[in-house]
Amino acid sequence: MAFGHGKLILLGEHGVVYGRPAIAAALPRGAEATAEPADAARLSVEAWNVDFAADAIQADERAEQLRQAFCALLAGYATPPALRVRVRLGLPTAAGLGGSAALSVAIVRALDEALGIERDSAAVAELALAAERVFHGNPSGIDSALAAHGGVSLYRKGAPLEAIKLGRKLTLVVGHSGEPGSTRETVASVARQHARNPARIDQIFDGMEALVVNGRSALASGELWRLGQLMVLNQKLLVSLLLSTPRLEEMCQVAEKAGALGTKLTGGGGGGCMIALCEHAAAAEQVKAALTQLGREAFVIEVSG
Ligand code: PMV
Repeated sequence: MAFGHGKLILLGEHGVVYGRPAIAAALPRGAEATAEPADAARLSVEAWNVDFAADAIQADERAEQLRQAFCALLAGYATPPALRVRVRLGLPTAAGLGGSAALSVAIVRALDEALGIERDSAAVAELALAAERVFHGNPSGIDSALAAHGGVSLYRKGAPLEAIKLGRKLTLVVGHSGEPGSTRETVASVARQHARNPARIDQIFDGMEALVVNGRSALASGELWRLGQLMVLNQKLLVSLLLSTPRLEEMCQVAEKAGALGTKLTGGGGGGCMIALCEHAAAAEQVKAALTQLGREAFVIEVSG
């Protein structure tokens, strides 16, 4: 079974598109794929109700985007293999959890396994990035890197992933706002803001970079309280880029009131998910209960790196 991880960005989303560092943790959840002999290269994603041949243009916009992303992956092979790839998604998409990168990595790994191709994680991430360009327009590459490598890492465009050894395991609650967030749109919105006022936006990214550098040492030394404070500051910078929503803000407030050490949106924003860092499992259950009470879906994850 081929697998690609979902991910949570702990600090630094959006700045990472502009060459700044960001820190992300791979999720145990993600996408699974298998490949079986077929008449042509085909993709089947049951959750999205799609099953098509790579060369069959799709009327539905989302299916057509998926088909084009699949073709971008197939371009990494000498000829399109006569295989049907079946994907099972264990993550919501358009949620800021790196669902599309998890899917792309799982597809590449399923094809490679069936064809007997050996490719290391960096090369898998590189190929998966071709599909991310179709989904997101201008991806930084952090999602594909984490989807392929797993673990907790600092990522900077063009540089090798820097694994972070955690001083303490992390307990996080992931809360879904129930509003879809389009990373393509939020990345484009930040690009417009940057084009209008580069000095202001670069200053915000300078701030984010400082939080990421500080966050790396907080993670390594296991200072969860400090990491929580850095997340709160990061969220303020994301708000100043108009990336949060009233619902995400409400969820962050409720989670902090219920005892979270720090909260922020994660991923592209404009909807999707928020995360809440908690001291331990019991605190996380309280935060999860508070979010559930608010009518939001939430789950607890532990990250040990
Ligand atoms: O929304 P997601 O899970 O695709 O995360 C996007 C992260 C961004 O920094 C906003 C974009 C990127 O490509 O790094």
